[in-house]
Amino acid sequence: MSQEAELIIEGKSIKLPSIEGTEHEKALDISALRAQSGYVTLDIGYKNTGATQSAITFLDGEKGILHYRGYSIEQLAEKSNFLEVAYLLIYGELPTKAQYEEFNKSITAEYQVPDAIKTIIKAIPKEAHPMGVLAGLISMLTSYYPETTVENASADEVKKTIVKLLGKLPTLSAYLYKHSLGQELVEPRADLDYCSNFVNMMFSEKGKAYTINPVVVDAMNKLLILHADHEQNCSTSTVRIVGSAHASLPSSVSAGISALWGPLHGGANQAVIEMLEDIKKDGGDTKKFLAKAKDKNDTFRLMGFGHRVYKNFDPRAKIIKKACDEILKALGVNDPVLSIAKGLEEEALADQYFVDRKLYPNVDFYSGIIYKALGLKAEFFTVLFALGRLPGWTAQWKEMREANEPIGRPRQIYTGKVDREYVEISKR
Ligand code: CMC
Repeated sequence: MSQEAELIIEGKSIKLPSIEGTEHEKALDISALRAQSGYVTLDIGYKNTGATQSAITFLDGEKGILHYRGYSIEQLAEKSNFLEVAYLLIYGELPTKAQYEEFNKSITAEYQVPDAIKTIIKAIPKEAHPMGVLAGLISMLTSYYPETTVENASADEVKKTIVKLLGKLPTLSAYLYKHSLGQELVEPRADLDYCSNFVNMMFSEKGKAYTINPVVVDAMNKLLILHADHEQNCSTSTVRIVGSAHASLPSSVSAGISALWGPLHGGANQAVIEMLEDIKKDGGDTKKFLAKAKDKNDTFRLMGFGHRVYKNFDPRAKIIKKACDEILKALGVNDPVLSIAKGLEEEALADQYFVDRKLYPNVDFYSGIIYKALGLKAEFFTVLFALGRLPGWTAQWKEMREANEPIGRPRQIYTGKVDREYVEISKR
């Protein structure tokens, strides 16, 4: 039965219709509120505001549920591969064999990047943070492929842009990595599957024998799947709002990469490993760091802990924690920061401060330990998050444009000075 809420304001009754999603999430539609009452709503940080209706990802923060297009993250992480999940997110269904092959072929055909971009990469300071560079390079692709910026592009044109980005992001990321290490760039290989090619570009060295380790490829697939979408988070909302101005998919993704870089969002994976290393260097006193995290006069936060939506557990963190044990064992890595992380988690989960605030490890808490075990530099952890999130950003941008959503433009409540008279500079 459809419900409606009644709001009585300044003696006037306003009816607010309700909306219910397919997973029974409930919302009040306030889109006519200002016209009817002169009021807007105020919700800083959008803690209680639905920005859109979406059929891509569902998550229930209380129950720790995450579904892509109706499939559980547990099943997808266990049984699928990243490219299949990318197709699912973007096109709504798991691909048939023929669709998968066609998708894979069109992406591999886009692995190469313009020579000029390689030259640019080689000119960038080796110590530059890759997220800033990556945002720039993705935006720069539009100058080599202006067709990707066509407003109101056809479905076929959008499809071509999508495979371009999926093909080129791994190459750009790996080129940046090699450059940061002062090594020669390793060319992409179309004979390898998506993750194997990425692993090869990242970890093989020109002129040296290298065997692609299936444990590493499996870990990469799992990690990328777990990061592939997460409904209306900070970077995805950024992508949708940039795209709502009819900015191109590459420009919107570039903005998403910038948002993701922030340490409260994707940048947390780098921050977590740095925090764990700091704790180790400091002698491993986890209690001291927990106390700092609880101290309101200290800006330190327990990185990799807490989530805007998950208030019980983050299902991605659960899968990653298990995978972390398995991968480190398979690779024969014994990293002391793993036991520091586990100790920290155990203590935090038993601490009233964290219990009261429902703070649990999030996706970034254990992922960095895996990336480190794979041999990756900490600055590149968030690049991996971006690579994983690309299908989600793409699916969300496409959904928003196909629904012809209006330009995103929140209101505000002005709290500044009013009605002042201009005073000449000589009299101030
Ligand atoms: N360490 C210590 N205290 C915390 C933490 C933390 N990591 N996270 C939240 N709190 C406290 C916070 O101080 C506040 O306390 P009080 O009510 O006394 O003022 C309370 O818990 C609620 O926190 P909030 O900042 O209002 O919550 P939020 O929903 O605005 O922020 C968050 C969510 C993820 C930004 C935050 O938990 C945080 O900064 N965590 C650390 C960074 C991190 O791990 N980010 C990765 C998120 S998952 C990956 C992704 O999808 O981006």
